[in-house]
Amino acid sequence: MVCNLLQGKKGIIFGALNDKSIAWKVAEKAYDQGARFTLTNTPAALRFGDTEKLAETCNTGVISADATNIEDLEKVFEETMRMLGGKIDFLLHSIGMSPNVRKGRSYDNTNYDYYQKTLDISALSLHKMLQVARRLDAINDWGSVVALTYVAAQRTLYGYNDMADAKALLESIARSFGYIYGRDKKIRVNTISQSPTETTAGSGVKGFSSLVDFTERMSPLGNATAEECADYCITLFSDLTRKVTMQNLFHDGGFSSMGMSREAMLQYDKSFKPCD
Ligand SMILES: NC(=O)c1ccc[n+]([C@@H]2O[C@H](COP(=O)([O-])OP(=O)(O)OC[C@H]3O[C@@H](n4cnc5c(N)ncnc54)[C@H](O)[C@@H]3O)[C@@H](O)[C@H]2O)c1
Repeated sequence: MVCNLLQGKKGIIFGALNDKSIAWKVAEKAYDQGARFTLTNTPAALRFGDTEKLAETCNTGVISADATNIEDLEKVFEETMRMLGGKIDFLLHSIGMSPNVRKGRSYDNTNYDYYQKTLDISALSLHKMLQVARRLDAINDWGSVVALTYVAAQRTLYGYNDMADAKALLESIARSFGYIYGRDKKIRVNTISQSPTETTAGSGVKGFSSLVDFTERMSPLGNATAEECADYCITLFSDLTRKVTMQNLFHDGGFSSMGMSREAMLQYDKSFKPCD
């Protein structure tokens, strides 16, 4: 549904790798809703991914940057403001990576150098973005920052490994910086806690397809897709949510409020006869 919700707004979208990426769907929808924005990803992602293709579709440019590197982040904000002719109104942090997960190191056999990389890439990068943006005064008053997270920050889910700790930190940074940025500039900072979604990062989690099946059975509305997540992001970038800040917003079909569902019960007891 196109209602020009982001007409006249400018932004930066971090993390669109390929057409499965949540950030990719956000970019497509933001473009449809009238926004102008830049795309950014790491040099390696730009070599192996399809970000340039997306940039063509969205009539924009790509800025190469490692989100853990302050100089790169300064370049992203400065080049974006030059390309778009002014400060931005929205920013999407859609970044996650755990070397421990990638290399199959379990949580109780963690490599601490990898662990620090996980936290730096997946959580501290949000703090760095916000700190650089604030120093450069790069976000307009009433702007909106959204970062993507997962319920493993609150509940233990097998195989999510050190990413669970990174997500807990990410959500805390959103609250702590959200206070300061809200107080001083009326800029809102929120996290969206999304259902498991088949993307490059998602599929790297051990037992991912079982997790998708489990959460589908547990969620009254079913798992949320990447497109649906993008729709939610658009509402948070729009002026319709100007007083929403410092929140972790579950976008998971109800999963986070469930204990046991009829569908899951049936899965464990095939002879179970539900009464409703
Ligand atoms: N897929 C899921 O099941 C799921 C569920 C909840 C939350 N999330 C979160 O959504 C976000 C987006 O992930 P996705 O599922 O779309 O997967 P994805 O693999 O498409 O996106 C992850 C992105 O992070 C980028 N990235 C990695 N290291 C980086 C760095 N140092 N600097 C800049 N960018 C870097 C990658 O290049 C990639 O574009 C992540 O924060 C992820 O944890 C995903």
